[in-house]
Amino acid sequence: MSVKSIGVLTAGGDAPGMNAAVRAVTRAALGSGLKVHGIHRAFEGLMQEDIFELGARDVGGILQRGGTVLQTERYPAFAELAVQQKAVAILRGRGIDALVAIGGDGTMRGALALHKLGFPVMGIPASIDNDVYGTDIAIGVDTALNTIVEAIDKLRDTASSHRNAFIVENMGRHCGHLALMAGIISGAEMILIPEQEASAEDVAAAVRSAHERGKTHAIIVVSEGASLRASALKKKLDAMELGYGFRVTILGHVQRGGSPSAWDRLIAARFGVSAVERLLKGGSGTMVGLKDGAIVAVPMEEAGSRQRAPDLEYYRMAKMLAK
Ligand code: F6P
Repeated sequence: MSVKSIGVLTAGGDAPGMNAAVRAVTRAALGSGLKVHGIHRAFEGLMQEDIFELGARDVGGILQRGGTVLQTERYPAFAELAVQQKAVAILRGRGIDALVAIGGDGTMRGALALHKLGFPVMGIPASIDNDVYGTDIAIGVDTALNTIVEAIDKLRDTASSHRNAFIVENMGRHCGHLALMAGIISGAEMILIPEQEASAEDVAAAVRSAHERGKTHAIIVVSEGASLRASALKKKLDAMELGYGFRVTILGHVQRGGSPSAWDRLIAARFGVSAVERLLKGGSGTMVGLKDGAIVAVPMEEAGSRQRAPDLEYYRMAKMLAK
């Protein structure tokens, strides 16, 4: 069956650049003569038939906006077969014959379920965590990193003025990518990520050594997925009486917001166009991804079940540079 009308949704946690992807999908599809339907509030909105037609002007002025104009919702009930079957019936009933799902690994699992029921789907990775398997980078990662680095630069000003050590906890769920990259580009003395064990004693040694080398401050970046979280780490370090005052900053949801960076807008455009082109060629059950600079198709089965881990070569690099 040839595709004449597509639906587009954003699911999971919002990520800067999702709007740029919605715009790219919509305009690429309209340009190929397809009808486009926006689905509000992800899979939950789909079940409630919160669906409306999108024209080229409807996606005007959203490129530079953070968040997602389609809104998003986490919807665990979509794991049930009966719910998935009803979703397919709703889509077909609305004359939609393919779906572009923009989000993280959970979104890919939801889309894959529809593909398994014979409904054509294409995925676009968007998650600040950069944990989606099969793509070097997801939409939103670059903007989040810029936000984190800007915050750490500011904290460093205070840290060096007061001879404090700052423990900065950032998001990433079970994946240490954001913390690792942020640590390298903000010059952290120590980085704690789930993929590489480090103890409070290791952190103390790094802080002590920074002190001995004449540093007036220390920055410790902690991924929220690390076995030792920021507050627990502070407690242990305070008890060691190292001569530094430790302060904790948990960056939280500020990392998810903001206008998408140039990189995120461009990758969103590339992913969006490629997703539509692949659907038109009869593709389904895959996610577009970036591999060594090229846009590739990744089986959703892998994108939804495996987790991308950061390259630990970067961990070695971070240690080398924290001198
Ligand atoms: O997946 C994005 C993310 O921001 C994670 O880094 C974090 O663990 C989670 O979502 C927070 O989810 P919520 O916004 O539902 O609290």
